[in-house]
Amino acid sequence: MTKDWNTNIYCLIGDPVKKSLSPKIHNYIFEANNINSVYVCFNINAKDLKSTLDSFKILGIEGFNVTVPHKIKIMNYLDEIDDEARYLGAVNTVKNVEGRFIGYNTDGLGFIKSLEDRNIDIINKDILILGAGGASHAISTKLALEGVNKIIILNRTLSKGKKLASEIHEKFDNVKLECDTLDNFYKYLDIDMIVNCTTIGMYPDIDSSPVDLSMFNNDIIVYDIVYKPIKTKLLHMAERMGMETIEGIDMLINQGLLSQKIWFNYEIDNLFKDVDELKKLL
Ligand code: ATR
Repeated sequence: MTKDWNTNIYCLIGDPVKKSLSPKIHNYIFEANNINSVYVCFNINAKDLKSTLDSFKILGIEGFNVTVPHKIKIMNYLDEIDDEARYLGAVNTVKNVEGRFIGYNTDGLGFIKSLEDRNIDIINKDILILGAGGASHAISTKLALEGVNKIIILNRTLSKGKKLASEIHEKFDNVKLECDTLDNFYKYLDIDMIVNCTTIGMYPDIDSSPVDLSMFNNDIIVYDIVYKPIKTKLLHMAERMGMETIEGIDMLINQGLLSQKIWFNYEIDNLFKDVDELKKLL
């Protein structure tokens, strides 16, 4: 669609935003649905977050996504925060409603949706979470909310893992929680699924796999939320061992579709049918 005076701007703010796939996803959806909007990226330093939002209001930006490292800090500058985002403790989607910025979280649901798409049932399952950063926060809390039996959080920095585990425990005292350092993974082999929420794998030249999968049974599911490269060393190893694997790109696309749903009040099924086609473009 030709851009004109009436074109709306949507964007991603983060630091870094270089190499983000969000513009490809959102611009593809805009084109496919004849929406007169464009999606761009802005690299924003944490110190400029408030003034960025003030400028966005002046410019009439209709909606934007928030990524590392602003997903928690942004909450201080919004006019309203939706219940789920408050619960998950992070905002990745903002909508401008009559000049007021309202924050949402689509990471947690995007993650769950990618499991539902594959008919994976997590109720009463034992899940090993690697990492305790922003993404782990939203995913672990959402898993607890969805009714898993046990969450084991393994993090390089034990104190951060413990903090996250105690925050989840405060909200859900029916979910079993354990916490340890990443290098102690071999103590937790009896699980149903591993979710890598660390950034290990993003730099394939230097990164190895966060855990040695050869110690686990091959009936586990391995989900790596790192999406660049699309197949990390962890996923390659899981495939070699015959384990079911899920790529981070699935969560990325789902959280993007859910952001669009918030911005445009669409039914997702009507919004974008050909996720596989989109995947090929990314
Ligand atoms: P995100 O928002 O993507 O979750 P983040 O909040 O910066 O990003 O979290 C990154 C996670 O990857 C953290 O759990 C981090 O561990 P620490 O809490 O110890 O920093 C983990 N991580 C990053 N690099 C790592 C590495 N080389 N080895 C182990 N864990 C690593």
